[in-house]
Amino acid sequence: MPEIIVGRDWDDLKKFGNKGTISLGKNIVGTGAETHLASEIKVDVLRPHIVVVVGKRGSGKSYTSQVVAEEIYKLPEEVRRNLCVISIDTQGIFWSMKYPNNKQRDLLYQWKLKPEKFNVFEYVPFGQKGKFDEMGILYDKTFSFKPSELTVADWCYSLGFGENELEGILLSKVLNKMKGNYSIDDIASKLEEEEFDEKIKLRVENILLNAKNWGIFSSEGTNVYEFLQPGKIIIFDVSLFGGGVGWNVKSLIVGLLMKKIYEARVMARRKEELATIEEEEKKKRNIPLCWIITDEAHNFIPSTGSTAASDIILTVIRQGRQPGISQLFVTQMPDKLHTDVLSQADLVIAHRLTSQRDIDALKAIMQTYMLYSIEKYLDELPKLKGVALILDDNSERLYKIRVRPRQSWHGGESPVAL
Ligand SMILES: Nc1ncnc2c1ncn2[C@@H]1O[C@H](COP(=O)(O)OP(=O)(O)OP(=O)(O)O)[C@@H](O)[C@H]1O
Ligand SMILES: [Mg+2]
Repeated sequence: MPEIIVGRDWDDLKKFGNKGTISLGKNIVGTGAETHLASEIKVDVLRPHIVVVVGKRGSGKSYTSQVVAEEIYKLPEEVRRNLCVISIDTQGIFWSMKYPNNKQRDLLYQWKLKPEKFNVFEYVPFGQKGKFDEMGILYDKTFSFKPSELTVADWCYSLGFGENELEGILLSKVLNKMKGNYSIDDIASKLEEEEFDEKIKLRVENILLNAKNWGIFSSEGTNVYEFLQPGKIIIFDVSLFGGGVGWNVKSLIVGLLMKKIYEARVMARRKEELATIEEEEKKKRNIPLCWIITDEAHNFIPSTGSTAASDIILTVIRQGRQPGISQLFVTQMPDKLHTDVLSQADLVIAHRLTSQRDIDALKAIMQTYMLYSIEKYLDELPKLKGVALILDDNSERLYKIRVRPRQSWHGGESPVAL
């Protein structure tokens, strides 16, 4: 049965055939009792893409995003060595890729697949290793940032100050005087020296010192080249930040990571181009192209307001094609996601959606080349987990897909009271 390749234009199809594609599942054809699975659906991973995975609770979004990670890991060495995957794990469910999916063994056999574990790299926040040890979760490394890596805006977003409020102005005055590799205590001492409203000083210092408890700061900071390695699947577990500041801290982490990756890839891209011009094959790619998977993305890049991650995510979306960064966003609420994410997406994977506002958000971008309304296609999807529509902007076509079962254990299952 011929395969369907999405995300690849005609020129690349002629040039590469099906090389550098990952198999996401099978095309669902027919409706009602006639429904059956037909051609394999493959996704291009040679070029950078913006992919958005949407769907209501429990429809299979996180699962699908991890199938993408598994598939990239399984690519032939010549392709895989040019890629790496960075997963931002907001729910603490991706570490289970290290274990085989024995739970769905029968389903896997139907797909001629076997349960398998994947050698992923799990990074946890430097100051939270004790908690992860307690939970018995296997992790490989810890990550941290130097306080000096944060801009005034980063501090303001994560501490909850407006940049133009007195607190923000004070922080900006102080940070502009800081030099070298400084700690949070160093910032606090400088704050005390500053001539400013005493109450505001005390408030800023208090909140700032609390940031030490987040466990993400150290004097070394994680070097981007340590994790941006060929063929690696890297998971950043940010699931344990709860409470009021939880999403602020998660956004700060995503923003800082994204900035590091973006800068590294922009620099690498120049070297690669130079090497191509000079035809020095060996030197061509030492920093892999990157796939960044962000779950619960509407919290990082919301439709209204900003976070410590939103500016850099938008930059990567608008310019990521050039440095070679692909982004896969997962969200339950496409209407809460910044409109640029959906409008720049070249692939949308829509699992079951019921809220009219979310359906309308999809309609706004993809309806132009659809024969019928998107509601009709969504209604026709069989009532099974892992079924979705794929909207391919490259070919301006839409397919119904059953995503293949995962080979590694899926950690996102909802608990049962009985
Ligand atoms: N392609 C698939 N094949 C088989 N089972 C699947 C597939 N996709 C999802 N499932 C099943 O559906 C369950 C829910 O999937 P998943 O955790 O991905 O939901 P979700 O859309 O991310 O939900 P939430 O919005 O709550 O995070 C999984 O635990 C799994 O058992
Ligand atoms: Mg999920």
